[in-house]
Amino acid sequence: MSEIKALGYLGFSISDPDAWKRYAENILGVSVTETDNGDMYLRIDSYAWRIHLKKSDHDQLDYIGWEVSDKQNLENLKRRLTEQKIVFEVGSDELIKNRKVKDLITFYDPDGTCCEVFYGPLQETNKPFVSPKGFRFITGDQGLGHIVLITKDHDAQEAFYTDFLGFKLSDYINTEVVPGKPFNISFLRCNGRHHSLALAPVPIPAKVAHIMFQVDSIDDVGRAMDAAEKDGVHFSFTLGRHSNDEMLSFYTMTPSGFDVEFGWGAIEVDDDTWHVKVHHTNSAWGHKFQRPPRK
Ligand SMILES: [Fe+2]
Repeated sequence: MSEIKALGYLGFSISDPDAWKRYAENILGVSVTETDNGDMYLRIDSYAWRIHLKKSDHDQLDYIGWEVSDKQNLENLKRRLTEQKIVFEVGSDELIKNRKVKDLITFYDPDGTCCEVFYGPLQETNKPFVSPKGFRFITGDQGLGHIVLITKDHDAQEAFYTDFLGFKLSDYINTEVVPGKPFNISFLRCNGRHHSLALAPVPIPAKVAHIMFQVDSIDDVGRAMDAAEKDGVHFSFTLGRHSNDEMLSFYTMTPSGFDVEFGWGAIEVDDDTWHVKVHHTNSAWGHKFQRPPRK
């Protein structure tokens, strides 16, 4: 039933473009294109863009772009949204042009996060992606990476993404990331990546816990760590290996306050043999939580 094939793109409002440009190029090693109005578009592969950073006076997640393979799948999803009486909007010509896709629709999940579902993303093979750090990102069938949303209504969110949008549940981690504050995170997939989306019911106002980029070399994780240390960026979690997707990664705080997980070596899920699992630890080792500096 699932039409959704991958996490395609993300859009954020950001208040400090200069800090973001340095963070994106020097630590993440992604390429940055600035537009006349001050917005920035980040690239990590052949897609014309993957992350849109809109210049603003505040910091927030604006939208999540989920990719379907073609018009037929978009039409199937539109039909099911209509049947379930879920309000959606057809993308305007201007929005389609801005997103550089063939077509899209927009709707909201139960927590009020704007979801865009699109097909036909522009590929810029004539302008090959060149990482300023020489990094190569794992994308392709696995999409851009993953996003972990802070959820206000975990049950409703999990049901929406699994029962309705067709994501598969990979596993749960029931743990105390912050000592004394246990919670149950659900990890959802829509392709071979262990999770493209995770839902964390943490009682904080933020919408996004982190987004994740995966590189194809363990040494590039080390190089990104070196750059982050040199720039004095806050490490939210130290280097570690996750218990469930086996990603070796570290987390730094972006200039917007949410984290980026930068990792290597995650497993790929085989639908025929996978079974839902439960973990009581976030990590096999490492990933020590570091309190953010007081402002
Ligand atoms: Fe993650």
